[in-house]
Amino acid sequence: MRGARIIGTGRALPMRVVKNEELTLRMDTSDEWIVQRTGVRERRYVDPGTGSSHLGAEAARNAIANAGITPEDIDLIVFASLSPDHVFPGNGVLVQERLGMRTVGALDVRDQCSGFLYGLSVAEAYVKGRFHDHVLVIGAEVQSTGLDFSTKGRDVAVIFGDGAGAVVVGPAEPGRGILSSHLHSEGKYAKDLWLEAPSFIDNPWITHEMIDAGKHFPKMNGRYVFTHAVRRFPEVTLESLLKNGLTIADLSLLIPHQANLRITQAVGAALQLPEEKVFSNVERYGNTTAASIPIALDECVEQGRIREGDIVCLASFGSGFTWASTLLRW
Ligand code: UT7
Repeated sequence: MRGARIIGTGRALPMRVVKNEELTLRMDTSDEWIVQRTGVRERRYVDPGTGSSHLGAEAARNAIANAGITPEDIDLIVFASLSPDHVFPGNGVLVQERLGMRTVGALDVRDQCSGFLYGLSVAEAYVKGRFHDHVLVIGAEVQSTGLDFSTKGRDVAVIFGDGAGAVVVGPAEPGRGILSSHLHSEGKYAKDLWLEAPSFIDNPWITHEMIDAGKHFPKMNGRYVFTHAVRRFPEVTLESLLKNGLTIADLSLLIPHQANLRITQAVGAALQLPEEKVFSNVERYGNTTAASIPIALDECVEQGRIREGDIVCLASFGSGFTWASTLLRW
């Protein structure tokens, strides 16, 4: 079997920077609380009319350009988002049209914070299995339009932001690039971080009562999610190293999903990794769900934090619960 590696990365962030102070005008919160409990200092919000498909398409354009190929070279689109422009069709087809691609497959992935790594595992399999040569994987979110900005929703609203990241996966010699992917889920916790309504199991699927009850806003059992996250991140990171006969000492960089600075710090401590080996940009973008890992990866590449031959672990945890890791030899 041939290998598969990331040959290009890209990102797209909305221009509008929203600092914690701005949120204090809309709800009972403070810059001090947000920074202490989450590490977030600012996030980006889109202007009206911009969807995750737009941000995703822009990130994809950058990733394709950085890969040194053209949109016509892409054989498959994988789009991960919990905030697609529409319930259907998914964002993948919108990117196919917007980038003027061939009539290639467009697969939408619904695994929230793990969506990008779930999507990357699909790209890995298709490229390693010689089904395709170039697979585009996008993680993009517009969450600012769907948050509860009243004090009732403050625990969730202060964390999340908008953004997009993308990669192109192409062929590599065996042993280089994506070494392995590890995906997990535990659906018994589905309601601990979810958006309850509108729901096709209700009839009619959208009602005034739902809206009055605020069921159309995301709800999170924050402490519970936190506790599970700090256990699963180290576990799935070690799983990827063990699978490849490596140890934590071999790891050059861990890029965890950017959920909360305290989670990232707890994970680094649990793995006994020095601070410089655990990437964080949550202070600038908040939690961008499926977009956070590809945005972080693109920044790491741009900043020269990853060199050829480095062992890099990407790891995620979030709604589902789902968690995952991907181990790379860059
Ligand atoms: O993307 C992956 C999934 N998401 C995550 O990984 C997030 C995981 N969870 C977290 O990051 C944290 O649980 C939160 C940041 C969401 C909350 O932090 P916490 O330290 O767990 O706070 P808490 O929910 O236990 O609330 C503590 C207090 C409460 O007040 P009382 O009941 O102690 O009086 C909250 O009402 O903080 C209050 N609070 C706030 N205060 C000011 C909650 N949100 C806010 C806020 N501003 N934004």
